[in-house]
Amino acid sequence: MFTYTLTYTHTPFVTDIVANADTNESALQDGMHDATRVVRAGLPHPAPGTPYMAGPTFAATYHTPGDPSASSYAYGRFDNPAWRAYETALESLEGGPVTLFASGMAATVAVLSTVLVPGSKVVMPSDCYYTTRRIALEHFATLGIEFVMAPTAGDAQAALLEGAALLWIESPTNPSLDVCDIARLCTLAHDAGALVAVDNTTATMLAQRPLALGADFVIMSDTKAMSGHADVILGHVACRDVAWAEKIRTWRTRMGAIPGPMEVWLAHRSLGTLDVRLTRQCESAMRVAEFLVTHPAVAAVRYPGLPSDPSYAVASRQMTRFGSVVSFTLRDREAAERFFSRATLVHEATSFGGIHTSAERRARWGGDDVPEGFIRMSIGVEDVRDLLADIAGALDHALHPGTGNSASIPLTASSAEPSHATS
Ligand SMILES: Cc1ncc(COP(=O)(O)O)c(C=O)c1O
Repeated sequence: MFTYTLTYTHTPFVTDIVANADTNESALQDGMHDATRVVRAGLPHPAPGTPYMAGPTFAATYHTPGDPSASSYAYGRFDNPAWRAYETALESLEGGPVTLFASGMAATVAVLSTVLVPGSKVVMPSDCYYTTRRIALEHFATLGIEFVMAPTAGDAQAALLEGAALLWIESPTNPSLDVCDIARLCTLAHDAGALVAVDNTTATMLAQRPLALGADFVIMSDTKAMSGHADVILGHVACRDVAWAEKIRTWRTRMGAIPGPMEVWLAHRSLGTLDVRLTRQCESAMRVAEFLVTHPAVAAVRYPGLPSDPSYAVASRQMTRFGSVVSFTLRDREAAERFFSRATLVHEATSFGGIHTSAERRARWGGDDVPEGFIRMSIGVEDVRDLLADIAGALDHALHPGTGNSASIPLTASSAEPSHATS
């Protein structure tokens, strides 16, 4: 597997904001492992009588007598102590300056808005997260920005790079889990004069470090595995270059796409268990994927960690773990709905990366090129023996409706939100 060398050390990159002089980054030595880094990153020095991590500061404004630049904090849209602590933590993990946003989509829009001007050409995956494609084609394209699209598999975007200002990558893709060679595409894009942004949401920086692979921007929905408890909407952008980081931060300050201090504090608290959670989730995801392959109800399985998967060769080179999401296809919509009617631990919900196992029939939203029986499953931290038993019973019931504890089967249209709401 790929081993990463982190060369970035935190340097405050916005000069009008006071640096994190009180954080404990120096406790993290080069070479320390991710499981240690996530526990300590961004925490304050252990001063007598202080907690490991102080609670969030709720402030719209701060006392700023005289010259406001003399105060650490001035106004709630500019900065917040909880943001700086979590940003510092993420910077040591991503390997570049980080700016938090109110959501993953706010982070996506910040990069697109900052990099692109009318006339710019963007190469985007035709199979990346649906709302990213939608905002590209329904908003940015109307501003005179050209989007050309090709699938993630086989590095098909490489053929479209000529004249591009930006290459957008998502690997593994949500929901089909295709993978591209990020380092190769970064080299080709840079040779063509394009910057590269990688949506790293499905992998997280503990599985894959896009900046180390050559990317210029990393986009994350911290709503998923980063916060991991299905209780926070949050996002961030990490940059290779300090000048771009300052532009991204200025965008946030002016557009106001800021996160709440409570959400950021919750995410920072959850960071300490990220390695523990992901280790369990990825091991269980592998077990589930291996089981799915053997079940007669399952027509196809996608998991980058399966040696038989088309993504395996590249994923095993560039990822250090294969993620918590497994996708599989049952015969049709009815079979998928029978699966959900029987499962008790696999809750039907959109989103992924959290501690609770969940899944959804993806075609219920529209917008993704997947069969009606395609299910995206996010593996949580439950005991895998219980998960496998539950999934086995639900699959048996999907195959033979009389099997197991069959519940009523809702074959009517779901109560889905409009397709733009999917995650
Ligand atoms: C790959 C990917 N990127 C970005 C987003 C957007 O994140 P958020 O819902 O936090 O805005 C999502 C949401 O599902 C996603 O799956």
